[in-house]
Amino acid sequence: MTGTAYVVDELISAKAIAARIEALAREIGQEYADTNKLVVVGLLRGSFIFIADLVRELDLPVEVDFLEASSYGDGMESSREVRILKDLRSPIEGRDVLVVEDIVDTGFTLSHVLRLLKSRAPRKLRTIALLDKPARREVDLKADWTGFEIPDEFVVGYGIDYAQRNRNLPFIGKVRFPEEA
Ligand code: PRP
Repeated sequence: MTGTAYVVDELISAKAIAARIEALAREIGQEYADTNKLVVVGLLRGSFIFIADLVRELDLPVEVDFLEASSYGDGMESSREVRILKDLRSPIEGRDVLVVEDIVDTGFTLSHVLRLLKSRAPRKLRTIALLDKPARREVDLKADWTGFEIPDEFVVGYGIDYAQRNRNLPFIGKVRFPEEA
């Protein structure tokens, strides 16, 4: 499957993403107006572009940290097994934390990460996902802020890969296999 030729059709433009991030950053700024330093946690690898753009729109003191949790192999289906491959550098006890996810699909990754981070007793723990694919949800969970709700399509770009390709597309695209009807 991963060797099959495919094309990518634009689903969400770079301009639309930028406008949405600006609006989300304003809301987050209000929510965390009293923070002395917000810990913004990007889930690697998919969120690396989103977090970079988001923190530059946040008018708040921020610390940036990363956590890597993996639930997928190189295929399209979730293995449902969530592994922590890289943990945070800083303790988060008593701190304000915002977890940044590129996409919530089944919800397994985010729910696992939230369980882990909650056990470290942060003061306030919130989540933001650029994309939400509710049709695929298997765990009852929704990010506190969502950029765009999308249909059950395989998407790439703006940090999201298909078999480790297309993360560098500046827009969100939909994968299409031309030989399929
Ligand atoms: C993808 C994506 C989300 C997660 C969503 O990560 O970046 O983190 O899957 O799926 P779920 O809601 O079904 O758990 P992946 O494990 O592919 O790693 P990556 O971020 O390095 O691409």
